[in-house]
Amino acid sequence: MLRRLQQKWNIKGYQLWLVLLVFALGGSATAYLSRLLLAGLPQNIFWLWKLLLRIGILIFAYPAVLLLIAFIFGQGAFFWAYEKKLLLQLRRRRVVPLSIMNDSKREQKQTFRLAIFASGAGSNAQKIIDHFKNSSLAQVALVVCNKPEAGVVTIAAAENIRVLLIEKDRFFSGDAYLPELQEAKIDLIILAGFLWKVPDALLQAYPQKIINIHPALLPSFGGKGMYGQKVHQAVLGRGDMQTGITIHYVDEHYDNGAVIFQTALPVLPGDTPETLAQRIHQLEHVHYPQVIEKLLNEQATLP
Ligand code: GRF
Repeated sequence: MLRRLQQKWNIKGYQLWLVLLVFALGGSATAYLSRLLLAGLPQNIFWLWKLLLRIGILIFAYPAVLLLIAFIFGQGAFFWAYEKKLLLQLRRRRVVPLSIMNDSKREQKQTFRLAIFASGAGSNAQKIIDHFKNSSLAQVALVVCNKPEAGVVTIAAAENIRVLLIEKDRFFSGDAYLPELQEAKIDLIILAGFLWKVPDALLQAYPQKIINIHPALLPSFGGKGMYGQKVHQAVLGRGDMQTGITIHYVDEHYDNGAVIFQTALPVLPGDTPETLAQRIHQLEHVHYPQVIEKLLNEQATLP
């Protein structure tokens, strides 16, 4: 269960303990505060006022106390994002029109809008587009690419999907194209062969909402410069008996965020980087769309 929490929150092991500690301290401090306030009230006060005060403390004081303690323990950024997310979910629930409140659970939820960031051939992008083509759960709303000549641009054009061509300067030193992503109402960013690092501006705007696929079993064969055939050459060079794919959250380092999914395949005698790449691609095409769907379903069924 702790491992699931760690993956869900996309945090490292030690940070999970700090986060749990902040929750515990926040709860105790709020309970203490509530007792103090209630003790200061006149004895004969109407019970309803006491109840309202308790609820008020829970709604307003608890988040504030949590944030305060979180900052003390260096977890301010996590709790700030966490509380913002809760608020957003509350707002989304409020705006569900009454007319569809009785429909199935799925219909009450939004259709997630996906952006695929890719700079290569785009075979994974194609599989993801196909997977969600007739889906009410999600749709690929945008393809983001830094190479106008990349195969993925042709795929997007054929599929009638908007393409956002990006430039280094604005991506890394400007607004990271956040206005365009927000305007397209993107909920999840999917990297599929995107070779640039993701800038902080995007990581902060999309906490735990940027995922990547890597053609090896991370943490092996990941990091700067480890992409494409280089990964498979390295696997063969080290004489590993198996390799595989990793789908993971994206953080500020290359190929480093919490792992969401991994699966392996054997390295066969006579394998070359090309044959390995081919089998790895097949594995990616099967699993990436499914893992995305699972992640979105988990989001959609959040209370
Ligand atoms: C995939 O192998 C993926 O693991 C890596 O980049 C490659 C993209 O291939 N991140 P394609 O452009 O989807 O065919």
